[in-house]
Amino acid sequence: MIQFLSIAFRNMKTVGTICPSSPMLARSLAAAAIESTSPKRILEVGPGTGPVTKEILKCLGPDDVLDIVELSSEFCQDLDAKILTPWRTRGKPGQVTLHNAAIQDVELEMGSYDCVICGLPFNNFEIDLVETIMRRLLDLLRPGGELSYFCYFGAKTMKSTVLDGPGRDNLRAIARLERELHLAHSGSRHVVLANIPPAEVRRLQKP
Ligand SMILES: C[S@@+](CC[C@H](N)C(=O)[O-])C[C@H]1O[C@@H](n2cnc3c(N)ncnc32)[C@H](O)[C@@H]1O
Repeated sequence: MIQFLSIAFRNMKTVGTICPSSPMLARSLAAAAIESTSPKRILEVGPGTGPVTKEILKCLGPDDVLDIVELSSEFCQDLDAKILTPWRTRGKPGQVTLHNAAIQDVELEMGSYDCVICGLPFNNFEIDLVETIMRRLLDLLRPGGELSYFCYFGAKTMKSTVLDGPGRDNLRAIARLERELHLAHSGSRHVVLANIPPAEVRRLQKP
């Protein structure tokens, strides 16, 4: 927790919170992977210290594959040492790969994932970046695959009160994009109160 706080304070824009996800939020985010049938390919984006990774690893069968993409090298080192290295003693070699990179830059196989689980703080990003990343995550899914991501409940309303005009316009544009994607991808939403702050998990289906 102290390590998460220290990295979060130095990288507020890309981390976007001061607390890792609660076990309830982590389970809810990982539900798409838990419900997906094996053999499955899963992509996790922005694991931080790994609360969602732990839930995904619990449901990883011997023929499943997990790719993880994390921007911060400090979070990568921590995740590798505390979660992935101990897990690798039980899993198959090459089953889990950690990429220390930005999701918009890393090379991954398009159209190949059954589910993408994303922990990025979209409300902190410029609309162009949100659009680039969202389109990429959907392109990485196979047809019928599922993207799940989250945002903090009421965050846009609260942030709007402290932002200037362009900042508020940016949040409105993100909300508009999310509404469009929700309609085009049979979206569903689920509020998780047991998290600091309460969060909403959103799921999109690739047609
Ligand atoms: C809100 S934290 C989520 C942490 C974790 N998933 C959890 O639930 O506690 C966002 C994470 O996304 C990572 N991140 C931010 N921008 C990224 C990008 N473009 N590509 C990959 N990871 C990114 C941050 O370094 C951070 O670890």
